[in-house]
Amino acid sequence: MKINILFGAALMAMLMACTPQDNKEMADTKEDKNHVVETIMARRSIRKYKAEPVAREVMTQILDCGINAPNGQNKQSWEIRVVDNPELLAEMSKAMGEAHPQIPMAKDCFRGAPVMVFIARDLSYDFSAYDCGLLAQNMMLSAWSMGVGSVCLGSPVRFLTDNDLCKPLVDKLGFSEGYELSLCVGFGYADEAPDAKPRDKQKYRFVD
Ligand SMILES: Cc1cc2nc3c(=O)[nH]c(=O)nc-3n(C[C@H](O)[C@H](O)[C@H](O)COP(=O)(O)O)c2cc1C
Repeated sequence: MKINILFGAALMAMLMACTPQDNKEMADTKEDKNHVVETIMARRSIRKYKAEPVAREVMTQILDCGINAPNGQNKQSWEIRVVDNPELLAEMSKAMGEAHPQIPMAKDCFRGAPVMVFIARDLSYDFSAYDCGLLAQNMMLSAWSMGVGSVCLGSPVRFLTDNDLCKPLVDKLGFSEGYELSLCVGFGYADEAPDAKPRDKQKYRFVD
């Protein structure tokens, strides 16, 4: 616990000026840079993580950024559970693997992230999936700006919810009645620096 707090304080100090890519190069701190744009353009999905945990103080800041996302009628139509217990994450991975023996990646679908955030949506609100997506994006961008990598994950939702074997583990997350696990996001310190995947600029156009 004490080590965790010390570790967290040291990380917080380091992360104020770092992005995951700073493993290779320091961020440009010139004042004329737009740091939001920089963060958006630099963020990449991370699928290889260092073993070190993310301090709960850092995760709390990321979660606070998440819940400040725009959301329909300010209903905050999400519930969020954070799992940083390696034994529980391993138990979930094992169960997903056993429930899907024909899908080799099922047991690895957390991508080795040391922290998993499970997001459930309020089924009574038709826009709750968007709320949850915006929440997740706020978390991923704020994380990146603080040097924490992330990966948005749909596959664990499928692997955890389409079978009875994993049900006790989903139940353990303790989402309220009327909420359904909809999205997962893994967080941790990047052990890779993937290039940006190409984006199709034909997907947008101005209409006069
Ligand atoms: C809704 C959603 C579900 C995703 N599910 C997975 C997943 O199950 N496994 C995975 O490795 N990446 C997953 N991703 C990450 C995407 O593959 C990734 O965002 C995309 O390839 C673009 O790469 P980038 O994030 O590095 O820009 C998901 C992303 C989103 C938004």
